[in-house]
Amino acid sequence: MLDRPHPTPATPSADPFALAKALSGLHFIGGAYVPARSGKTFAVVNPATGIEVARAAEGDAADVDAAVTNAAKAQKEWAKMPARKRGALVHQCAALLQEHVDELGRLIALETGKALRTESRVEANVVADVFEFFGGLGSELKGESVPFAPNVLSVTVREPLGVVGAIIPWNVPMLLMALKVAPALVAGNAVVVKSAEEAPLAVLRICEIMNRVLPPDVFNMVSGFGPECGAPLVAHPLVKKVTFTGSVETGKIIYRAAAEKLIPVTLELGGKSPMIVFADCDFDKTVSGALTSMRFTRQGQSCTAASRIYVERPIFDRFVTAMKDAVNGMVMGDPLDEKTDIGTIISQGQFDKVKGFIAEGAATAGATAHVCSRMPEDPALKKGLFLQPVIFTGLTRESRLVQEEIFGPVTVIQPFDDPEAVLAEANDSDYGLAASLWTNNLKVGLDLAHRLEAGLVQINQNLVVQANLSYGGVKQSGLGKEASLEAMLEHFTHKKTIMVNMR
Ligand code: NAI
Ligand code: MG
Repeated sequence: MLDRPHPTPATPSADPFALAKALSGLHFIGGAYVPARSGKTFAVVNPATGIEVARAAEGDAADVDAAVTNAAKAQKEWAKMPARKRGALVHQCAALLQEHVDELGRLIALETGKALRTESRVEANVVADVFEFFGGLGSELKGESVPFAPNVLSVTVREPLGVVGAIIPWNVPMLLMALKVAPALVAGNAVVVKSAEEAPLAVLRICEIMNRVLPPDVFNMVSGFGPECGAPLVAHPLVKKVTFTGSVETGKIIYRAAAEKLIPVTLELGGKSPMIVFADCDFDKTVSGALTSMRFTRQGQSCTAASRIYVERPIFDRFVTAMKDAVNGMVMGDPLDEKTDIGTIISQGQFDKVKGFIAEGAATAGATAHVCSRMPEDPALKKGLFLQPVIFTGLTRESRLVQEEIFGPVTVIQPFDDPEAVLAEANDSDYGLAASLWTNNLKVGLDLAHRLEAGLVQINQNLVVQANLSYGGVKQSGLGKEASLEAMLEHFTHKKTIMVNMR
């Protein structure tokens, strides 16, 4: 298996189409590319054209078992390596990934339809940064000495959990994988990742790149469908921890399966993040912040998307007009074109789901759908899953568009008069992932920040996940934190107490 020649180039590839083909039909197990044991594959489609660009290995329980069994053996040696040395290797991975930023950006743009300039290359850069950040944290895996009794030495040590199963979605696959793999590895675990069926290629390439540095078997990648490939990973007896990002529904299935084995889980689920805009805000900065917050450049396919925007009444009309103008100024087009701001929806299923929400909103009495930007004219993109961003006004909290996660380029702007009432509306949600407040009155801002039910509240900004800041939601948005030192310690190690009686 280890002697299998690599089908992919050692140097960064400038041609995402050729790279996608080369990555076809493969998992990465035991330090090498391997096909699915069943020989089955499924299509990877470029959502900008509807054309198949690769096949992915269709993994099942047999592939998962091979990956996990090997990983469990390798993990024992990996855990013996000094933590700082493990970190140094992860650091080397970061440097290699940095060399491949442009390649990875193009590849992820090809398979997800996210624009290269505004999203895909940005994601590739953040990925390298995440590995660099965690690579430096090896020495932080330390315990405490605990006062117990004279002449009794009582200390705690941090130990890895074993094999970690990581299940990732398609919206930001490389970053969400990095947030799991980097801390898991540095903490001394081995990892088996199950990629998202819509976007298996860039993460597979990252796995191969990192395996040039890491010992074989500590980082493995399988592709396949949720029930056939993800579920066996969760259920495998040698998997001692599962970390997942995706839908609430699947998160609960995984939590139940993990409960059967009594293993810990980290769940990063959906959101319906409110953005609250006060009349005293810095207006232009807030409008531009709303574009970022809503992740229009990612077609709104973000769990932290500001899909509920509450604007204080005196500036409501002006704000809606400015938002429309700003989104109208964004260019929809070929994700690989540097001029493009907005690419495509990931899949036909998601496209139909989002269109259903838009139709329902437009049919609601009193509602207005402001359809923004323009469809691309290039005939090559005719079959692409392009969807014009829609800003809704005239919808209220009863609407499904205000309650449910749409995961598309759709936001609802509502006016408000009273800070207490808007706080109550913002908290009137099953979700609690993120929120943002826009005001120059920090007294009001901080007060509301403390009372908003969310894992992350930002005042006068709404940036994407950054290494070193704990990230994770409350309520239906999930369990546990990612992206920080605390996340590595609490979610990828357990604390053992050792006592020595010297009396
Ligand atoms: P999903 O949660 O079904 O898929 C995410 C991952 O879980 C994929 O790798 C999938 O193969 C895997 N999976 C599915 N069923 C599984 C099972 N029974 N056992 C183990 N793994 C399983 O999400 P999907 O279907 O792609 O999107 C549906 C909705 O979920 C979206 O419309 C959006 O609202 C939400 N979502 C939220 C994300 C977030 O960042 N929090 C990311 C992706 C989707
Ligand atoms: Mg699903």
